[in-house]
Amino acid sequence: MRIKQSKKLRSKHFYNGKSKVETSITRVVLQDDLSNNPHCIHGPCILWKTSSMSSPFYGCSSYRSRKECPFFEKFAPNKQIHLVEHETHPHLPFVLERQSRLKALETRGEISYCSTCHLCWQNQGELKTSHQHHHVHKGLSLSQMKHPLSILEPLSANKGEAQFHFTKLTMNVIMSWFKKNKWKNVLCLGAPSVFEALKHENLGARALLLDIDDRLASFYDMNEEWLWFNMFNNHFFLGNESERTFQEFLRSASSDLVIVTDPPFGGKCELIARTLNAITQYWRLYHGILRVPQIFWIFPYFMEHQIISCMDNLYMADFQVDYTNHKTFQNGTGGRKSGSPVRVFTNVDGICLPFPENLGYQFCAPCEKWVSPNNRHCDICGSCTAKNGETYKHCRKCKRCVKKKFSHCKLCNRCALPDHPCNLFRDKSIADPKRQ
Ligand SMILES: C[S@@+](CC[C@H](N)C(=O)[O-])C[C@H]1O[C@@H](n2cnc3c(N)ncnc32)[C@H](O)[C@@H]1O
Ligand SMILES: [Zn+2]
Ligand SMILES: [Zn+2]
Ligand SMILES: [Zn+2]
Ligand SMILES: [Zn+2]
Ligand SMILES: [Zn+2]
Ligand SMILES: [Zn+2]
Repeated sequence: MRIKQSKKLRSKHFYNGKSKVETSITRVVLQDDLSNNPHCIHGPCILWKTSSMSSPFYGCSSYRSRKECPFFEKFAPNKQIHLVEHETHPHLPFVLERQSRLKALETRGEISYCSTCHLCWQNQGELKTSHQHHHVHKGLSLSQMKHPLSILEPLSANKGEAQFHFTKLTMNVIMSWFKKNKWKNVLCLGAPSVFEALKHENLGARALLLDIDDRLASFYDMNEEWLWFNMFNNHFFLGNESERTFQEFLRSASSDLVIVTDPPFGGKCELIARTLNAITQYWRLYHGILRVPQIFWIFPYFMEHQIISCMDNLYMADFQVDYTNHKTFQNGTGGRKSGSPVRVFTNVDGICLPFPENLGYQFCAPCEKWVSPNNRHCDICGSCTAKNGETYKHCRKCKRCVKKKFSHCKLCNRCALPDHPCNLFRDKSIADPKRQ
């Protein structure tokens, strides 16, 4: 069941092009150091292996559709590594132009923003000459420019960025955790709503946004607020300049460090975990090797096994994260009956993360954490066992809790849906308990 869902997700959000690679399972070949790998415009490439190709290949870390990033190079084990000048991202001149226009904005005077060219200006003449048939937001104030998410269209779900924004309710819950715990230093890794809210709510927290969306150059200062960053290979598009800002943020984060990340759901856990670990290591260099940052990694519940196998200090908090612009990942009309499948993976004690009681969330005393309305504590398992928003039931033969719709099949000796392909499980011996 889990495999089926995760494949479906991948095909929707990540493996969206037409190349052969996308129909087979693609795995990361983990390497300690990526710097000697070939680079595409998105930074160092990843060594990938697919079930349909015999030898590994280097490909883009972030965009897996060849339409988005065509880079492909077969792995040749004995090939000499030549240090070459890496190609810069073709958007670089536009990013610099956006940033200089932002800095030139004056407090008085209406601002226009063209969401076709991603440029802002105050000079009335510019509209007539350059943006006649474009989609232009007119009459913006400087303070409106500080809320880019209300101006920017979310980038398409089919592209690598897969931008889905949290609902107000989800944001309120996340903000309530910040208020309660009084955290002071927050890195938002692909979480622009959290960054925007932290900037405007007076919580006394400093925040830095790391995101690949280069349209943000029209709204945020690139020396203080936003760094153009690829979270799948830990790459800063503007090199040393951004790295200095980033290191300075970590150096002055002596009291704590919170990392909130909401990556595109097709993103490989190994790569996200590697970036989270790298950030942790940099921070420890300044503040001691035993320090542990607070991590919030927002991802679907059925990725639990993959996440925990990359970062075993995280657990799945049973809060359902909702998005404004995602049909499946929201509550109510059009969403799943049992609510959004997206959860928060964290290392913060459950007792520090209350969920809204008025929505039916309950505190489980033996587990010392909040759980979703339909979750029940199983005395045999010793925990609240439901994962998907429904109530699970205990199977004595399997010795664990399983989904409500499952029943125990004597032939397979496992719990499965009543119409499961029984012979398939028996013949191929793939009755893997983790799959439930
Ligand atoms: C699923 S959205 C999360 C947005 C979040 N729900 C919010 O409301 O703030 C994914 C975010 O990650 C960013 N992103 C996508 N690919 C990225 C990459 N390779 N590196 C860094 N950021 C990336 C997108 O631009 C987007 O802001
Ligand atoms: Zn690329
Ligand atoms: Zn324009
Ligand atoms: Zn419990
Ligand atoms: Zn149980
Ligand atoms: Zn069973
Ligand atoms: Zn069976």
